[in-house]
Amino acid sequence: MRILFYGTASYDKESFDKELPAYPDISIEYTETNLTPLTASLARGYDAVCAFVNANVGALTLEVLAGLGVKLVLMRCAGFDAVNVNMAKDLGITVTRVPAYSPEAIAEHAMALAMCANRRIHKGYIRVRENNFSLGGLVGETLYGKTAGIIGTGRIGAALCRICKGFGMTVLGSDLYPNQKLIEEGCVDEYVDYDELYARADLISLHAFLNKDSYHMINDESIAKMKDGVILINTGRGALVDSNALIRGIRSGKIGAAGLDVYEEENQNVYQDRGDQILGTSITARLCSFPNVVLTSHQAFFTREALAQIAQCTLDNALAYANGGEYVQGSQVC
Ligand code: NAI
Repeated sequence: MRILFYGTASYDKESFDKELPAYPDISIEYTETNLTPLTASLARGYDAVCAFVNANVGALTLEVLAGLGVKLVLMRCAGFDAVNVNMAKDLGITVTRVPAYSPEAIAEHAMALAMCANRRIHKGYIRVRENNFSLGGLVGETLYGKTAGIIGTGRIGAALCRICKGFGMTVLGSDLYPNQKLIEEGCVDEYVDYDELYARADLISLHAFLNKDSYHMINDESIAKMKDGVILINTGRGALVDSNALIRGIRSGKIGAAGLDVYEEENQNVYQDRGDQILGTSITARLCSFPNVVLTSHQAFFTREALAQIAQCTLDNALAYANGGEYVQGSQVC
């Protein structure tokens, strides 16, 4: 099987090349070009293409691929919003994804953001580099003995509950489907509704998936119900939080610290070096201007272990397609 790998970053090539020797029947050629209707024709002569969340696997792209006889699209990410699934079905193209990879990686990053924003590590680091050893403005909160509110206690939320327990925190969970096992294991002390969680939590971290019910669940009204000085962390999806309400909450002092790996404007920014550009909109710039806010660019998943799992799952799916075997559980989109 010959795979054309679109949108290659150096770390993609490194992680896939490391796994490839275990798949002698698969060969990969890498291109930095992203998969779009214009670049789909590069896949002439290949059996499959591999693409990432920021590709354009819409109707036109799929038509070009089908015309070339490419019948397999391997998405090396969990989300498949980039794919026109109905069109893929109509054209008889199989689409697979990587349903889950290292939830601990994302949970650890969530706690890293909480610690960094709360203890102003990002400010302290810059100060010390400039021989400024003063402490003014760097005071934070001790997490030991405080209350964490985890919204969405699925794979990632549960991993963060365990971490918060390690910090000596009381852990409140809120989920559409409370997981009694987490209570039995001592990772969650109590499941409560949103209002109670907002009222009691000193640290709130978002791990619910985004849908019409959770869209802008953090808004002016919910922020008003939170404790003064609350630490808010979002590694879920940007649109869980109404950014303008968040900015108002930070300005009013209600939100004491915020750590965001995802935010509403991120699509234009994710994985791009925009150092020489003028940003056309202001949410990113406004968030970056606050001393108690830390932004990262959708990097919570980015560990060697997660990259290895992404490569293995993608190659297992390619092999399953070639041999008519079973896809990795939860991988087959259509
Ligand atoms: P999961 O499916 O294991 O867990 C999601 C949980 O949220 C489920 O228990 C579900 O019942 C709950 N939920 C859904 N809607 C809810 C609501 N309105 N209120 C309360 N709970 C609700 O998913 P997993 O693997 O834990 O991922 C969580 C999110 O993390 C994903 O949706 C994804 O957006 C994000 N993510 C972020 C990454 C990053 O690099 N920043 C990487 C991977 C995932």
